[in-house]
Amino acid sequence: MDSPQADVKTTRLADYTPPAFLVDHVQLDVDLRDGQTWVTSTLQLRRNPDNSQQSASDLVLDGECLTLESLAIDGEPVAADRYRYEKDQLTIESVPQAFSLTSVVLIEPEKNTALEGLYRSNGMYCTQCEAEGFRRITFFPDRPDVLARFTTTVRADKKRYPLLLSNGNPVNQGEEGDRHWVTWEDPFPKPCYLFALVAGDLACLEDSYTTSSGRQVSLRLYAEHRDLDKLDHAMLSLKNAMRWDEETYGREYDLDIYMIVAVSHFNMGAMENKGLNIFNTACVLAHPSTTTDAGFQRVESVVAHEYFHNWSGNRVTCRDWFQLSLKEGFTVFRDQQFSADMNSAAVQRVENVDFLVNHQFPEDQGPMAHPVRPAEYQKIDNFYTLTIYEKGAEIVRMQYHLLGSEDFRRATDLYFERFDGQAVTCDDFVACMEEISGRDLTQFKRWYSQAGTPVLTVTDGWKEGEYQISFRQHTPPTPGQAEKQPLMIPVRLALLDEAGEPLPLDAEGNREKVIILDREAQTLSFDAPGPVTPSLLRGFSAPVVLDYAYDHDQLCRLLALDSDGYCRWSAAQRLYFSALDRLVKGEGSAAAEAQTLLPVLEQVIGRADEDPAQAALLLSLPGEVALGDRHSPLDPGSVHVAHQAMKKALGKALQTHWLSLAENLIATELEMDGRAMGRRQLRNLALDYLAASGHPEAQRLAVELFELPLCMTEELAALRILVHYNLAGANQALAQFAERWSDEALVMDQWFAVQAAVPGPASLPRIEELMAHSAFDWTVPNRVRALVGTLANGNPSAFHSPDGEGYRLFAAALTRLDRINPQIAARLANAAARMAKLEPGRRGQLQNALQGVKKQASDNLGEVLGRILGA
Ligand code: BES
Ligand code: ZN
Repeated sequence: MDSPQADVKTTRLADYTPPAFLVDHVQLDVDLRDGQTWVTSTLQLRRNPDNSQQSASDLVLDGECLTLESLAIDGEPVAADRYRYEKDQLTIESVPQAFSLTSVVLIEPEKNTALEGLYRSNGMYCTQCEAEGFRRITFFPDRPDVLARFTTTVRADKKRYPLLLSNGNPVNQGEEGDRHWVTWEDPFPKPCYLFALVAGDLACLEDSYTTSSGRQVSLRLYAEHRDLDKLDHAMLSLKNAMRWDEETYGREYDLDIYMIVAVSHFNMGAMENKGLNIFNTACVLAHPSTTTDAGFQRVESVVAHEYFHNWSGNRVTCRDWFQLSLKEGFTVFRDQQFSADMNSAAVQRVENVDFLVNHQFPEDQGPMAHPVRPAEYQKIDNFYTLTIYEKGAEIVRMQYHLLGSEDFRRATDLYFERFDGQAVTCDDFVACMEEISGRDLTQFKRWYSQAGTPVLTVTDGWKEGEYQISFRQHTPPTPGQAEKQPLMIPVRLALLDEAGEPLPLDAEGNREKVIILDREAQTLSFDAPGPVTPSLLRGFSAPVVLDYAYDHDQLCRLLALDSDGYCRWSAAQRLYFSALDRLVKGEGSAAAEAQTLLPVLEQVIGRADEDPAQAALLLSLPGEVALGDRHSPLDPGSVHVAHQAMKKALGKALQTHWLSLAENLIATELEMDGRAMGRRQLRNLALDYLAASGHPEAQRLAVELFELPLCMTEELAALRILVHYNLAGANQALAQFAERWSDEALVMDQWFAVQAAVPGPASLPRIEELMAHSAFDWTVPNRVRALVGTLANGNPSAFHSPDGEGYRLFAAALTRLDRINPQIAARLANAAARMAKLEPGRRGQLQNALQGVKKQASDNLGEVLGRILGA
């Protein structure tokens, strides 16, 4: 990537060298005391025999914010002139070939608001070490290719911290007055980023699981006592994930205990520490009265994701952080497969693609674009991106389809067996795919090294009685990569006749085919009896932008009749976008656009009962942000007006349908199965359109739903509709909601988010007020994301207020946050990555606001702002 900050270190893949020293064993003693924690560590170190170039006799360890108390080699104190601790590195001169190093350091978890390393959350102690947090706990070679066995003793006050946890199995414990200690041993060598420790007073939901080979595993989910009733769904999800990984990948769990701890202060969603996962409460707690259906599905997928890491990440880990997608892309693919198997596969796929095209594509087309395996980085925390995760998962998915499920399984078996206990690269993964399939994937691997979203332009026509279809691929330049090479692009295709029936494509009569494109341009011919609608990229077979000039009738045919869920959804999106684009440009009228969509949408509604969740996806307009991405120079104001007009027009044109859906889908009893969730989703959408149309029944139905909800999905949807359409009773509902849920942090996050999403600049004063609200807390990432994140990422018509007020609030929030938690500040700053698209007036305002922030920014925030501002 371009434009690194001048004074910040850049790490390059090309500079990789194996570690000079290996750590065979770590003995940690963590003595938790008010105000300061003593960490004594004894490392068994030896020179790496595999590192012949490294002849230097100095030992260099990482260490940040540590107060060094003492240092000894093989029990002998190290003289002060033999070591130095500067610039976050401890260097000890002329150390032996093999030795033990004991260090005693002091750390201050109480003051740790960055939530990296050891910190406190609601009265408990917990850790977050990925990617480079372990160096804030003790001196260590903090890199993923140093795998060590850990023995950890945790000491704390008995009363306040009855529970003391670390990785592996408890092997010893004892008491000393009002303090106690527990020693944990993890038999599996692991990189230090997988280390974890928890101390607190927590409730436990316990269950057990018998693996396919008959081993008993104790499953323990921990949360604050008040949240004990919110752990059942995570437990069920965990057991399902364990069974699924045995059946699908032949992977069994390997320890006697699997623990998950829920914490309120957490930068990410969850973390796969060996045997002791630590979760953001938002990704593990679930109860119908406090958690939406989307929340339930999120918990299921995050629990599975972190569980799956036990093999894809922990047993086989990454050589260096450039290989991050090796574990994250693969594990996201695995959790997507799992969710597809647990729920409606078609709906899951559309949701995953929707997320990819609306979030990862923009990243890949903007200033933050980078390859799935980057060549360099400044702050690794900034590289936990949608590209690494979501595009990385698509790259694994393409390999899955290239090999077919059986060979893919053989290839992953080979990968897990060959590299068990090792730290490896993306190349090692692909090599297993090559070895099993006998395919040469050299060109395919460009997907890992080349940034940017390929555009696939498709044209077709008739020649000598044959239907000809031509493909041309082009990847636009990205920062630091001007020239692009052709990629291997699998295109799954069908050709539909006028009745929507797929035509036979070859002599065997196959009606679907996968074409592997590997050149800039390729043409194919088929026999076809009459007009053809190409159904392209079925199942979203490759992460590319498809450029084909579909006409209106073709799109309606795909939407109504295609058997592929993705293609139906994509056709709907194209229809909506083309109508919306005209409105943004000031052409035509929303009412007329709605009329042309009416017949096909009525068809979708008529079949809604087959799969209500799918119907809801097909009937949902693309968001304002996605619409804005199609227009440059972008005036978010006119995008907003067009979007609202279209919604209102569809609301009116289909009003009787919305009304009957909103009324008829009312449930009388709470059900939590997929179908019930789909019905709620469709019903909430219908109510939303009804409100947009201005129908008076919308208000009555929303109030009714709000007063007597069966679950949070209903309650929150009703609140949102009342508040966003400013219907009678909105303010009372907000107040009532806050009163009802003031003790439930995750529900209050939703309360903040609903208000932060109220469209239009008029909501900014209220948002500013909320930043000063007594329930707002800058130290809780979930709360900050709910308010500031929702404004900046989910409310363009307020964020881009023409007077620059949204930018001012955003900039002030970034500055404030950066002092507390630089990782979260940097993540939020990504919301400004679309700056270059903005019309000049707003662009200038945003630029000024961010330049002010950048002057005093942390390295994390500075890197992101540097890229966005292009300096
Ligand atoms: N290993 C990550 C968590 C992580 C990311 C820790 C960055 C430190 C820095 C974990 O496995 C993960 O990917 N979590 C995701 C959720 C997942 C379902 C994609 C997250 O936290 O958002
Ligand atoms: Zn992960």
